[in-house]
Amino acid sequence: MMSTVLTEPQVAGKLALRGDNLVKRFGAVTALDGVSLTLGEGEILGILGDNGAGKSTLVKILTGFHQQTSGTLHIHGDETLLKSVDHARALGIECVYQDLALANSLSIYHNMFLNREIVRTGPARLLRLVDHKQMRERAAQCLDDIGVHVPSVDLPVERLSGGQRQAIAVARAVNTNARILLLDEPLAAMGAREAALIIDLVMRLKEKGGLSIIMIMHNYAQTLDIADRIMLMQRGRVTYEQRSANTSVAELMDIVRREYRAMRATTAP
Ligand SMILES: Nc1ncnc2c1ncn2[C@@H]1O[C@H](COP(=O)(O)OP(=O)(O)OP(=O)(O)O)[C@@H](O)[C@H]1O
Ligand SMILES: [Mg+2]
Repeated sequence: MMSTVLTEPQVAGKLALRGDNLVKRFGAVTALDGVSLTLGEGEILGILGDNGAGKSTLVKILTGFHQQTSGTLHIHGDETLLKSVDHARALGIECVYQDLALANSLSIYHNMFLNREIVRTGPARLLRLVDHKQMRERAAQCLDDIGVHVPSVDLPVERLSGGQRQAIAVARAVNTNARILLLDEPLAAMGAREAALIIDLVMRLKEKGGLSIIMIMHNYAQTLDIADRIMLMQRGRVTYEQRSANTSVAELMDIVRREYRAMRATTAP
């Protein structure tokens, strides 16, 4: 089978995250077959690859949802075995999944504080009364800070467009102590204008600083636009890695085409 030259891009500065030789098996299926990756502080890493390449599985390991069969993870320099999603969250790792997990009938501000409602202070605290006023204000402030414009935070999420909804999900993820943000296909099923909304949002988050981002993407051109570095996954492995500035859509398509041909050659009757 065709082998692809692996480059070793230099990540400047400190690492937010490092994975070494991550393997994940589901019974007889090997979803990850020795994946190593780095994410620099403040960096945007774009992950590309076919259906079933193992991208979501990798993200689920980085969020503590799955545990790797073998291999190690370093989070901000410390070797860490992520035990659960809550454990990863406590370390500042937040994820926006493709199915978003927003409560569509609830308002924007409710969604932004879902499962972490602000409780009123004073005697009302004993009754665990939720402080709607403060949640409204904080939600509006947070959206304003990152440049997400909605008519009102009282609107139910179901009244928003797909792009706006994705923006709310991203805002909710970063409205915590998030230091590492994982986005699993944030632009899936979006038109150009909606995708641009999310791309702008991610760029603003990068400019604000303090956040390192991994994005799983499908569109090569959008990935090269937004990511500092790209990683190509095929059949549970990383087959190519490069700084976005040093590669092109044509080169990426060529690699994928070569792999596809090599695979057909080995599986053809
Ligand atoms: N919970 C699971 N149990 C068994 N097999 C799984 C499980 N999750 C993923 N797999 C398998 O692992 C492989 C990688 O799946 P994964 O979802 O990570 O791919 P992906 O790169 O995200 O694909 P897509 O682009 O379609 O989202 C696939 O063969 C899939 O069937
Ligand atoms: Mg996936």
